[in-house]
Amino acid sequence: MATHKALVLPEKFGKFVVRDVPTPKAGPGELLVEVRATSLNPIDWKAQEYGIAITEYPAVLGLDAAGVVKEVGEGVAGFAAGDQVLYQGSIAITQANFQQYSIVPAEITAKLPSNFTLEQAAAIPSVFITAAFGLYNGQTATGELRGAGLTPPWEEGGRSKYAGTPILIIGGSSSVGQQVIQLAKLSGFSPIIATASLKNTDFLKSLGATHVIDRNAPLAPSVKAIISEPIKYIYEAISLKETQDAAYELLAPGGTLILVLPTVLDEKNADKSKILAQVFASAHDPKQRKAGVKLYKNLTALLESGAIKPNHVEVLPNGLSGIPEGLERLKADKVSATKLVAQPWA
Ligand SMILES: NC(=O)c1ccc[n+]([C@@H]2O[C@H](COP(=O)([O-])OP(=O)(O)OC[C@H]3O[C@@H](n4cnc5c(N)ncnc54)[C@H](OP(=O)(O)O)[C@@H]3O)[C@@H](O)[C@H]2O)c1
Repeated sequence: MATHKALVLPEKFGKFVVRDVPTPKAGPGELLVEVRATSLNPIDWKAQEYGIAITEYPAVLGLDAAGVVKEVGEGVAGFAAGDQVLYQGSIAITQANFQQYSIVPAEITAKLPSNFTLEQAAAIPSVFITAAFGLYNGQTATGELRGAGLTPPWEEGGRSKYAGTPILIIGGSSSVGQQVIQLAKLSGFSPIIATASLKNTDFLKSLGATHVIDRNAPLAPSVKAIISEPIKYIYEAISLKETQDAAYELLAPGGTLILVLPTVLDEKNADKSKILAQVFASAHDPKQRKAGVKLYKNLTALLESGAIKPNHVEVLPNGLSGIPEGLERLKADKVSATKLVAQPWA
């Protein structure tokens, strides 16, 4: 049986270890991809530390990948062996990406844009989907509100549709926040106000932020110095207790607060007209699959046109073995405006 190297979490709360695992075959509608680059997300350390998001052990983590198609499953059109692609995996042993090969449904895979390296491409899928689903998805068939339900810029009438509407982005320099700023610009929002460490001001302005305010200063006075009325759309890309509270206070009645983590707002004081949307950023989610398929159809062109720029990436040393140290840095909030990337074959 063919095998490859994976960074395995053998049991709940266990320690990561590099080990050989069986290499799967591409099923109908799927691609088998040689993962040349994978990026680290906060969920990877949280899953290990808190025992969340994983249903089966031994487990492999790692959501994002860019690589080379090795095998094309039955019924797949538009992809061939040798194509370079990017995609978001899932925490399922064959679909996770802290390993040398993974399986992905072809309909939620995009071709590598010519202006991105594999490392830059691996930084994109999850954070782009988080930003896009939060802004453009709405209520699912079973009633969960997953986003603000806006018209995406890749649909007719979506480009610049929200011209003159202000948006506040908490955590503008986070990997998710960077994508939100760029999408907000494509959607026409103005002003685009982002919180961050001020050292990241020029970078965030280059992505489309019109104002960057100090994440360590009290939020309300900083925002009110720019815009006096309450804000209708706030993307809260940090979603800690203190940032949720501060964002909620600035939200206009009837406005939408988009959260990336569960709400910890005090329900007692909740203004019922204020809408809370909680992102679940997985194109594998059957309830959001349709939106995911549409998004992947547009992703390569968005990246290739320069509408969405590469994140700053830092390539970690030592291949898969270098990932645990990178996760420690993410956990300690020691990574600023940068996506950590690992190369599983290094
Ligand atoms: N719901 C979902 O499906 C979903 C999907 C993806 C991510 N998430 C969650 O979204 C959050 C962000 O993920 P990420 O990958 O974007 O994180 P990240 O890139 O690792 O975030 C690091 C950045 O956070 C900024 N930051 C930290 N605390 C802040 C604060 N109090 N105010 C403003 N900025 C702050 C830092 O800014 P400075 O360096 O400028 O200080 C740093 O640049 C995580 O909690 C993650 O688990 C959820």
